[in-house]
Amino acid sequence: MSEGADVVTCRVAERIAWVSFNRPEKRNAMSPQLNRRMMDALEALEFRDDVGVLVLKGEGEAWSAGMDLKEYFRETEAEGLGAIRRSQRESYGWFRRLRWYEKPTIAMVNGWCFGGGFGPLFACDLAIAADEAKFGLSEINWGILPGGGVTKAVVDLLSMRDAMYLALTGTLIDGRTAAAWKLVNESVPLHRLESRVTELARVLLEKNPVTVKTAKDAVRRVKDMTYDNAEDYLVRAQEAANFLDGTEGRKEGVRQFIDEKSYKPGLAAYDPGKRNGEKN
Ligand code: COA
Repeated sequence: MSEGADVVTCRVAERIAWVSFNRPEKRNAMSPQLNRRMMDALEALEFRDDVGVLVLKGEGEAWSAGMDLKEYFRETEAEGLGAIRRSQRESYGWFRRLRWYEKPTIAMVNGWCFGGGFGPLFACDLAIAADEAKFGLSEINWGILPGGGVTKAVVDLLSMRDAMYLALTGTLIDGRTAAAWKLVNESVPLHRLESRVTELARVLLEKNPVTVKTAKDAVRRVKDMTYDNAEDYLVRAQEAANFLDGTEGRKEGVRQFIDEKSYKPGLAAYDPGKRNGEKN
């Protein structure tokens, strides 16, 4: 990977890619360089066979303090409209890539999560926070609206009242409140954060990966569809998954339950490592 190899770091272990915002001294604020590096990192990991889940974490005491006020806003504005649009494309680009990522994704929010940080937070399929984490839409405190998709993200995730409260007051909420409001799935004490995320990642790793990708896209796609359109989309999406899944997973899933009686779909996933009773 190119310049500034250190502002985003990656480690792959046991099929989990741990991708870190790595500017702890700047509270992991997203600079144009970080945005470019993040896109590189996502690209490099997306189709690796040894990666089944991606976790986005922050080094140091922050998850991300949002967009870098100096490098992302002030310095690009000084260069003119072309630079502004380029840096918007770079940040929105990796947020979008993450929203539709091939692998399931988990935001592991260890600390500060401000403003623009809600973009990648929303982009991740699941989010687990530390009780100690702090979330806030600080934009109102320095004179802008929550842009870069952030207002859309909070309106999609939260009630209108809670979204409005965050956007207008800039008040901080902690991980527990974020979980109660469903900004994240759950919060746990900081010392248990990594083990809880690992546990969740392992649950995802047990599933058929084609089905996981189909299901995660479906949840996002149907949100803005009419019921009839969603019904139709879901039929097509499953049929496309049947074509893409070379293991014929759904038939194997039925066989292991009905014929082999080796698992119960209501309680666990079928063994994707087996076909017709034989280990692959
Ligand atoms: N943009 C640019 N620089 C940032 C930054 C951001 N979003 N967030 C933190 N930094 C920098 C600080 O300027 C400081 O740099 P310096 O060491 O060169 O002076 C360094 O990171 C450490 O920040 P500091 O404020 O000293 O840390 P803190 O732990 O006391 O406070 C925060 C942490 C996150 C509460 C505080 O840095 C803050 O309010 N950041 C801005 C958050 C924000 O509004 N983000 C929204 C952007 S859309």
